[in-house]
Amino acid sequence: MVNKITVVGAGNVGATAAQRIAEKELARTVVMVDVADGVPQGKGLDQWQSAPIEGFDSRVIGTNGYEETAGSDIVVITAGIARKPGMSRDDLLNTNAGIVKSVSEHVKNTSPDAIVIVVSNPLDVMCWVAKEATGFPRERVIGMAGVLDTARYRAFLATALDVSVRDIQAMVLGGHGDTMVPLISYTTVSGIPITQLMDKATLDAIVDRTRNGGAEIVKFLKTGSAYYAPSSGAVQMVEAIVNDQKRILPCSAWLQGEYGMKGHFLGVPVKLGRKGIERILEVTLTADERAALEKSAAAVLEPMSVVKL
Ligand code: NAI
Ligand code: 2OP
Repeated sequence: MVNKITVVGAGNVGATAAQRIAEKELARTVVMVDVADGVPQGKGLDQWQSAPIEGFDSRVIGTNGYEETAGSDIVVITAGIARKPGMSRDDLLNTNAGIVKSVSEHVKNTSPDAIVIVVSNPLDVMCWVAKEATGFPRERVIGMAGVLDTARYRAFLATALDVSVRDIQAMVLGGHGDTMVPLISYTTVSGIPITQLMDKATLDAIVDRTRNGGAEIVKFLKTGSAYYAPSSGAVQMVEAIVNDQKRILPCSAWLQGEYGMKGHFLGVPVKLGRKGIERILEVTLTADERAALEKSAAAVLEPMSVVKL
């Protein structure tokens, strides 16, 4: 358990993440911050009132300011607007860049030693905005997307094979968009290569569904985007950091030459521990996977060039 975790944005992803963090008792105090008057306060109080029933002692509070967040060990940024039907993630670009920049400046001033987990979209670009605005080293600014995209891929594979999700090992790298790269060469079921268990057409359809996993949910919900699995993804990263688990998870990280790339964030396998990113793992890729990763990096670089910091 750490002393304080702040979740900025008390909307669908943020509030669900705060509740999961409290229920897992990952921090003594969980602070939710939002610009909406009364919303973080009301949700915080409601969550705290579930504590006697659920049996957790993490105190949840909500606020519109940053005083209560001071000295946070971890800050999860979910502030922004969510994607609506027909809207691409990049449509969100300029609005969310302004929001994430202003949030990050508050974090820098009030919690200078925090590890920041970014969730706001477009994810890989917002990570860069947060890194620039906080000035934090790359070990302490990490994006959540690969954990979610991999969970979707694993869930679809488990359904198709009628096996436990627990036995599916996989990794989705690249940017959080439809150019993401599910790594077929690293997809196994209890060590059995997926290509031995599934025909190519079925696997290709699952890869395609994974790439469009966010849009599929938006189409159902109509007024917002996914939040149960996204909040689980963010909290898995929080837990890995709080408990120094040294988990190997696909996260968006600032590249400094890894995979032959630098100067942008991209989803890659990282070791997550108490200090944040402890290592970026460079795995061998097939020629197709490498080409797909490069295409995905280009899809991150293009919107970056539009943002004025
Ligand atoms: P939401 O609309 O339910 O919540 C966003 C909250 O941010 C709202 O309560 C809003 O008042 C608040 N907000 C806006 N400006 C703020 C500011 N300056 N300071 C503090 N709070 C502010 O949206 P939802 O569904 O929670 O999604 C949040 C973000 O996460 C979106 O950008 C969405 O696209 C993204 N997302 C990213 C995923 C990923 O895999 N990286 C997955 C799911 C969502
Ligand atoms: C998702 O993938 C909207 O990025 C969000 O569900």
